[in-house]
Amino acid sequence: MASSITADRVPDMNKRQLMNLLLLGAISLPTAGMLVPYVAFIVPPGSGGAGGGSVAKDALGNDVLAAAWVETHGPGDKTLTQGLKGDPTYLVVEADKTIATYGINAVCTHLGCVVPFNSAENKFICPCHGSQYNFQGKVVRGPAPLSLALAHADIDDGKVVFVPWVETDFRTGEEPWWS
Ligand code: FES
Repeated sequence: MASSITADRVPDMNKRQLMNLLLLGAISLPTAGMLVPYVAFIVPPGSGGAGGGSVAKDALGNDVLAAAWVETHGPGDKTLTQGLKGDPTYLVVEADKTIATYGINAVCTHLGCVVPFNSAENKFICPCHGSQYNFQGKVVRGPAPLSLALAHADIDDGKVVFVPWVETDFRTGEEPWWS
């Protein structure tokens, strides 16, 4: 009698285990799939550059090549690139068609909007609350309390590389608030 009960239950148990495995698979496979983009986001591919620097990327995500950039961006041009820690950072072309040695972080020091450059006014004017910064990113009107952050824009092997700016802010003569 006991053996017949066991014999009856064994197939049930197997079926149940099989169902559990199928259910687990049905849940875990899509979950694992959903994790992939998150993991890829958390662990970004190497962006190059040594010593805390990172190669500037254009709007398409390509490395910015200095020679090609000045071919297509005229004197005074300020164009957004991807800078340190992924921050939107203006690459500046000087009057002599060289790339300026500094990049300007576009994140407004008030509440973090990305600040566009207004070439007619020769200023950065924040669309959120009207803060203004001069052509080098020095704050000239609030409510923003501080100037836009700087990064060094070096050229390494033909590529533009942003490097953290830890020296005195040449626009204000003060220590950099962002480092
Ligand atoms: Fe720029 Fe408020 S976020 S002025």
